[in-house]
Amino acid sequence: MNEMTKVSLSQWAYSDAAKAALARKPALFIGNEWVESSHGETIAVIDPSSGKEVSRFVDASDADVDRAVAAARTAFDDGRWSNLPPIVREGMMHKLADLIGQHADEFAELEAIDNGKPKGMAANIDIPGAIGMMHYMAGWASKLGGEMIEPMAIPRGLFHSYVRREPVGVAAQIVPWNFPLLMAILKIAPALAAGCTLILKPAEQTSLTALRLADLVAEAGFPAGVINIITGNGHTSGDRLVKHPDVDKVAFTGSTEIGKLINRNATDTLKRVTLELGGKSPVVVLPDVDVATAGPGAAGAIFFNSGQVCVAGSRLYAHRSIFDQLIEGMAGAAQFWAPRPSLDPEGHMGPLVSSEQFDRVMGYIDAGKKAGASVAIGGDAPSSDGGYYVNPTVLVDVKPDMSVVQEEIFGPVVVAQRFDDLDEVAREANNTCFGLGAGIWTRDIGAMHKLAAKIKAGTVWGNCHGVIDPALPFGGFKQSGLGREQARQGVEAYTELKSVIIQL
Ligand code: NAI
Ligand code: MG
Repeated sequence: MNEMTKVSLSQWAYSDAAKAALARKPALFIGNEWVESSHGETIAVIDPSSGKEVSRFVDASDADVDRAVAAARTAFDDGRWSNLPPIVREGMMHKLADLIGQHADEFAELEAIDNGKPKGMAANIDIPGAIGMMHYMAGWASKLGGEMIEPMAIPRGLFHSYVRREPVGVAAQIVPWNFPLLMAILKIAPALAAGCTLILKPAEQTSLTALRLADLVAEAGFPAGVINIITGNGHTSGDRLVKHPDVDKVAFTGSTEIGKLINRNATDTLKRVTLELGGKSPVVVLPDVDVATAGPGAAGAIFFNSGQVCVAGSRLYAHRSIFDQLIEGMAGAAQFWAPRPSLDPEGHMGPLVSSEQFDRVMGYIDAGKKAGASVAIGGDAPSSDGGYYVNPTVLVDVKPDMSVVQEEIFGPVVVAQRFDDLDEVAREANNTCFGLGAGIWTRDIGAMHKLAAKIKAGTVWGNCHGVIDPALPFGGFKQSGLGREQARQGVEAYTELKSVIIQL
């Protein structure tokens, strides 16, 4: 067991820019204006590094949701966005990306205050990731198009037929709290490129950066009603968006449980639905690896973002011959990931996002211990004055049917198991209801490709983990989701195809 060096877990001071953002009056961004809610209800912003309330924002009412949908509906139906020259739409998207870049430091700090992730991590990953995604998708605005196809059963020259690609309409976009701005842009950008209008609802745990983003929308030149941003609870405002008859498409990232509920709720109006849900991604380490690289690699796969990552490498399968060495390597790396307040510049891992998430993760660790798992690393929470810190944790002596092996914990907790041969580990890797990501560590090129083909997951990484690129499709097999985001497929998910057949 590894003793963590004691560091102060008191949150650091906020900058003046962050204080100004926290002091803003609760309001919703509808039709390019800040509007008051129809009722006065608000939700607290809690800094997870201290557990203290630092601001409040609107908990949107049904009437607020209806108003936002009406704004998006009008802006779609009158063509003020979809009929603009694609190059003009593309330009506005690049401008919005540039404006985020101009405020990158403030966005990174707000993300750290709201989510608990280290500011440096937000500055290096979340914010550049959001900017890159927007630039990438902007390019599609001028490149999407239809096709001319000759009919097969009709003599040539009698008919002219072609396929148009049109925007699907009004999109409701519901995002989680683990990468707040990045998830928001991952949703907004393809919708805009396709010519849709949208209503974005950030998670109730992390609404600060979405609200700050709204400030930049009009400045970038978007017509009123194209991008609407409303805040509120999932079971109220999120639910109303999903069921609203004037919404054409729902895009959701979050828990598998709510994803299934949303899919059911969207069925009455047969909305187009894309879902990016939970995971229990395996990391498979073969006997030939350099343990000095694979140990920290496996640690990073789970402890990055406090394990609050849909593709977190939460099940480790190490070959029996290197298992003990690999766990030792992870213990060394655990020091690097020791939790610190999000504004501590030395931090690599922050607290969990909320007290609910803290209770959930500690509950899983307890359940694992009760079921017979042993703690190899961590397994506890450092004492702090109110923050939601959990130490990096590795559980061993686990069985395939334990809840810690089957269910998404969404915290810095990995279950480690031994394996002997490739077929066995492929079977075990596929032995959950999820199929989002997987990591394989080996220099054996044959084994790498064989396993990559056998594992049921939307993304497989070799000798790395969690690398995401806007040009590659991203999504889940099995209960990890529906459809793909990013890439051409991600923007096409915001379109409908129309075949036009004309007798000449
Ligand atoms: P959640 O799935 O309840 O929340 C995600 C988003 O959905 C939020 O914006 C929320 O307001 C909205 N939402 C909730 N209920 C809704 C409803 N009935 N209709 C429409 N929208 C609704 O996730 P939660 O409760 O924050 O976290 C619980 C677990 O979910 C985590 O422990 C983790 O396992 C998983 N999760 C997975 C994520 C991923 O990236 N795959 C992200 C966040 C959570
Ligand atoms: Mg929930």
